[in-house]
Amino acid sequence: MMVKIAPSILSADFARLGDEVEDVRIAGADYIHFDVMDGEFVPNISVGFPVLKSLRKATDLFLDVHLMVDRPLRYVERFCDAGADLVNVHVEADTPENIHAALEKIHAKGKKAGITIKPKTPAEAVLPYLDQVDLVLVMTVEPGFGGQSFMADMLDKVHKIRTWIEEKQLACELEVDGGVDAVTAHACKAAGANVLVAGSAVFNKPDRAAAIAAIRNS
Ligand code: DX5
Ligand code: ZN
Repeated sequence: MMVKIAPSILSADFARLGDEVEDVRIAGADYIHFDVMDGEFVPNISVGFPVLKSLRKATDLFLDVHLMVDRPLRYVERFCDAGADLVNVHVEADTPENIHAALEKIHAKGKKAGITIKPKTPAEAVLPYLDQVDLVLVMTVEPGFGGQSFMADMLDKVHKIRTWIEEKQLACELEVDGGVDAVTAHACKAAGANVLVAGSAVFNKPDRAAAIAAIRNS
């Protein structure tokens, strides 16, 4: 399967974000993964609307926005307006009713919508949304920080969700996020992931083209 590589800006140099993103674009990145943390849903705070808006002006790359934000329904439209191409919301972040509403709001803005599950959340939690989303994101670390170790026991969930996507013949993409590098990427692909997020395994390497190629070809 052809995979897409989505470098996570969390490990980039934020003072030079436009240049960093241009560097990984030239190095072969397919998407840019933009991690938003609110200090409530996860015990960390990253960046939000103004940074996304500036980055949107600096690149044409597909911006995959991962909202690690409590009750994202409040903010999804503003992330669409700020320049997201796809907005991911966590199933754990609100009631099913409000998650459905958030996905609808994203689509009403003409953007793609994704659903995300944390490591302790079973694969089945995505089922109520599967027909409605363009992407499912399976976290392979506890969200909140870059540079953590890959949780290989998440791969069963990836495989299950890939099977459902195929059974239902959906166009939905399947993404993994956390601890993905040139070693762990192989198992992610084998389990059925087609979008691989990698933060430290791309931005912490001096040769980003080699880093992306190593993940893609693992
Ligand atoms: C974790 C973030 C990830 C993170 C991945 O909460 O959602 O996107 O940046 O970083 P690495 O690839 O270093 O594990
Ligand atoms: Zn992420």
